[in-house]
Amino acid sequence: MAKRSTFATRFGAIATVAGSAIGLGNVWRFPYEMGSNGGGSYFLVYVLSILLIGIPVMLSELAIGYSTRKSANKALRELSPGTRWHYFSLGGFLSAMLTLAFYSVVAGWIMAYFGAYLLEGVGQDSTAYFQHMVSTPLTAVGFTMLVLLLNHIVLRLGVRQGVERVNGVLMPLLFVLMIIFAVRSLFLPAAREGLTFMFRPSLSAFSPSMVLNAMGQAFFTLSLGGFVLETYASYFRPETSLVRTSLLVAIMDTAVALLSGVFLFPALFTYGGEVAAGPPFIFEVLPRVFASMPGGEIIAPVFFFLLLSAALTSTISMSEVQVSVVEEQRHWSRRRATIWVTLVALVLGSLCALSFSVLSSCTLWGRNIFGVMEYAVSNLLMPFMGLFICWFVGWHLQPDFLSDIIFPSATRQKYPRLTGRVAAVMRFLLRYIAPLCILAVFMSL
Ligand code: TRP
Repeated sequence: MAKRSTFATRFGAIATVAGSAIGLGNVWRFPYEMGSNGGGSYFLVYVLSILLIGIPVMLSELAIGYSTRKSANKALRELSPGTRWHYFSLGGFLSAMLTLAFYSVVAGWIMAYFGAYLLEGVGQDSTAYFQHMVSTPLTAVGFTMLVLLLNHIVLRLGVRQGVERVNGVLMPLLFVLMIIFAVRSLFLPAAREGLTFMFRPSLSAFSPSMVLNAMGQAFFTLSLGGFVLETYASYFRPETSLVRTSLLVAIMDTAVALLSGVFLFPALFTYGGEVAAGPPFIFEVLPRVFASMPGGEIIAPVFFFLLLSAALTSTISMSEVQVSVVEEQRHWSRRRATIWVTLVALVLGSLCALSFSVLSSCTLWGRNIFGVMEYAVSNLLMPFMGLFICWFVGWHLQPDFLSDIIFPSATRQKYPRLTGRVAAVMRFLLRYIAPLCILAVFMSL
């Protein structure tokens, strides 16, 4: 059997996990969710979810992949032989598959904006521009397909040449640009209102559905519950530290979400627009910002290009889970598995893309196909998978599984007290706090 590929460097491993985590979830989904869920209170719950649920679940997923070096299904079989726990890998597979579908639609919109800024700009009325774009079936489907094609090409290049290289270069660039934008926004006339909206919690905004949304966002933004981290950790070199990787990624990911909030909300309050616009949010606010920014026509395409790259590093991670599972389960070549994954994504993605035009009357729970997929994955499937991971690693495996994996024995000997404490806290969070929070929110819906 071929030796499992590994990442070339430690930086590469961190950059790739960060590349999966940092994406449209931070720049597109976080601000609009925050806008529709009342700002400061949502932010508070979001940060708590990252700390109390996100990090323990993240470490567990990494530990499963790192210790077995196998893709989701085989890893679960190896850790729990002769049981049915491995069926849960289907849940991860499904959430990666559905996410890829609606995610590539949004990445398609980004690509369309990038193209528009290169050619002619988006014009005065960004709301009308966006509406026109999403309701033209050919444009919507065309751009989704282009994104999936690009995704396909990088995947075919393989783990080292494709995934790792693209991630390492473009992520730092996006980060720098976001910092510049956020600092600039602080000098806008309505900066204070924007920041107040973001950071001042109000009691009246608390509700079970708001808490579920914030928790769902924490899962989505860290790419949890889709076995992405499990898959990537199976490519780690033995000396890669899981604790360091997960902390760094959680910090960077939260920083990018914060930066996009600090960039967008002051701008929204300065130039006007709807706080609770939902998915169109950034597509309506950003053009106004760029129109009023000196040199905006030049910065806009650069920004959309970097955002597209961030989106691609995430779509790659969602596809990589599916490819690695199909490859291992069906004993297919990487080429065949990749083509299969792309084809399924093309069909599902087109359905989502068309749900703003031809298929707009197909609705469920008052949402179109795109909305149903997005809600079902982020707020139901991912937290459910999170619950499974808490149960599996916290209760089903041996009590020391997590601490044995996350702390190599040399580290444990060197810092016995610190590692012991961290392990105890993680185990407590994983066994009690995280599952109870997830359950409580589900029950109160
Ligand atoms: N975390 C990514 C973002 O914030 C989205 C993402 C990447 C994802 N991989 C995933 C979501 C796997 C679900 C499953 O944009």
